[in-house]
Amino acid sequence: MEFTPENLIEQLNVLKETATAELTSTATTTDLEAWRVTYLGRGEGLLPKAIKILPLIPHEDRKATGGFANKVKTLLESKYSQQSMVIQNESSIKNNRQDSIDISLPGRPVRKGRLHPTTQIIREVCSAFESMGFQTLEGPEVEWELFNFGLLNIPKDHPARDMWNTIWIDRMTDNLDDRGGMLLRTHTSPMQARTMLKVQPPIRVVVPGRCYRYEATDATHEWHFFQIEGLVVDEGITFSDLKGTLYEFARQIFGSKRKVRFRCDYFPFVEPGVEMAIDCFACDGRGCRICKHTGWIEIMGAGMVHPKVLEMVGYDPNRYTGFAFGLGAERIAMLKYGIDDIRFFYDNDLRFLKQF
Ligand code: FA5
Repeated sequence: MEFTPENLIEQLNVLKETATAELTSTATTTDLEAWRVTYLGRGEGLLPKAIKILPLIPHEDRKATGGFANKVKTLLESKYSQQSMVIQNESSIKNNRQDSIDISLPGRPVRKGRLHPTTQIIREVCSAFESMGFQTLEGPEVEWELFNFGLLNIPKDHPARDMWNTIWIDRMTDNLDDRGGMLLRTHTSPMQARTMLKVQPPIRVVVPGRCYRYEATDATHEWHFFQIEGLVVDEGITFSDLKGTLYEFARQIFGSKRKVRFRCDYFPFVEPGVEMAIDCFACDGRGCRICKHTGWIEIMGAGMVHPKVLEMVGYDPNRYTGFAFGLGAERIAMLKYGIDDIRFFYDNDLRFLKQF
């Protein structure tokens, strides 16, 4: 834009209108700075350029034109500072919006963990026994040969040890003392002697815990799994107490309709020994795939504590009697939830675990 001395007031008016219109459309500090340089910039700015023409204006008009030029200058400068404030406010509001949390948005769901199905079943089984006055205990997973076998009436080199495929930690400690070698416990039964050596009857305990066996895995066998041991010792405990207690356990875990069957079985630390089965809940005892068409599902080994076991821990077998039982936690969960392969439990596959 070039200025001439003639009609400078009109040219200043046009300049004012154009500058004002352009100023309102500036949105950033960069736009605003470009506008300032164009209109107010020293030397090359349009308004200073117009003001430079003033000396060329005839003397009688110069004062009025000069006055008008000053008014335009004051007006544009004040509009410039107003617009500068508007732009700064907007950008700080925008920044605040980016930094702040919108509390009106619905929250993102937190991914919740859950208890492993084995833990759930262990808690369920233990609380069924707790409701009958049992206490829950835990014991070591790495065990002495003496507790895993000897104090359970399974002497060294006795063929009954073959019933458990043992993972030895150290057999060389054999002759260090009478505790023998060290192994990963093959069952939770070592806690029978550990408990009896610590306390005097009456005893009513359940012991959940991990066991290990040197075993090829298949749909019903893992090389590590959980058992829940039970032990009751007192004066006058009979086989009827065993039956009544285990019947009540089956009723609480599998429902009131279940029938219970006891058949003879052999474990060196009980006499008589039994295997307990429930009638198949899937087919009501008619026979199906789950019960292998027998109508019955075996759930645990049990029996009256062998008098020799009581003697070995210093109890008088003529005064005290008791019963013990041991069940596989995963097997109970498999029956309860219809899981057909034990290996699912420890694959860490969330698709399986999320179902419980
Ligand atoms: C025992 O381990 C005895 N200690 C049980 C016992 C205790 C009998 C007290 C009498 C008195 P058994 O080896 O049968 O018995 O194992 C007991 C249960 O553990 C089985 O019924 C089964 O449910 C579970 N179990 C055994 N081996 C495995 C395995 N490899 N994988 C998963 N579960 C198993």
